[in-house]
Amino acid sequence: MTETGKPHKISKNRWCAKHHRFLPFGGPDGELGASMRYLSQRFAMPYPELKGLLTDIGTEELGHLEMVGTIVHQLTRSMKPEEIKKAGFDAYFVDHTAGVYPTAASGFPWNAASIGVKGDVITDLTEDMGAEQKARTTYDNILRLCDDPDVSNVIRFLREREVVHFQRFGEGLRLAMEKMDGRNFYAVNPAFD
Ligand SMILES: [Fe+2]
Repeated sequence: MTETGKPHKISKNRWCAKHHRFLPFGGPDGELGASMRYLSQRFAMPYPELKGLLTDIGTEELGHLEMVGTIVHQLTRSMKPEEIKKAGFDAYFVDHTAGVYPTAASGFPWNAASIGVKGDVITDLTEDMGAEQKARTTYDNILRLCDDPDVSNVIRFLREREVVHFQRFGEGLRLAMEKMDGRNFYAVNPAFD
């Protein structure tokens, strides 16, 4: 289901396991990592506006995770063994059948080591801006490889959201700097000192 409650529909018989590999369900810059990063960082964030920003975007990313998982499921649910082999889906299939397991496109399982929660206001917000650009690049790369409009239309929407998140974190970083000592942001960490 989407955030608007409408289910995504990939046309029947348009299975395409190769696309599964592109989709960052559990990649280092994917939606799972994004939601875990922001929803973890929010606790130590000292400013209510920025705690709210992290909660808001982290929750939105969870909705995006559901969208990506739905696409992966619809692309892989009804493949025949021959199609599985042809699509290079066989190794994944042996481990997970057609279950949706959080891995990167390269096959690595999702790992918290791919996200940063530093407990420092400037560091965390800067990480978040970089993370949004990495997510945007990942979606750009998927769009370069994907020729299925049922998939690419959703990816375009998600890509747009990453650009908006990058801008919102940029505004958040400026707000944090205004609240801190303007002459020396690095003298204290308001999340700890
Ligand atoms: Fe995002």
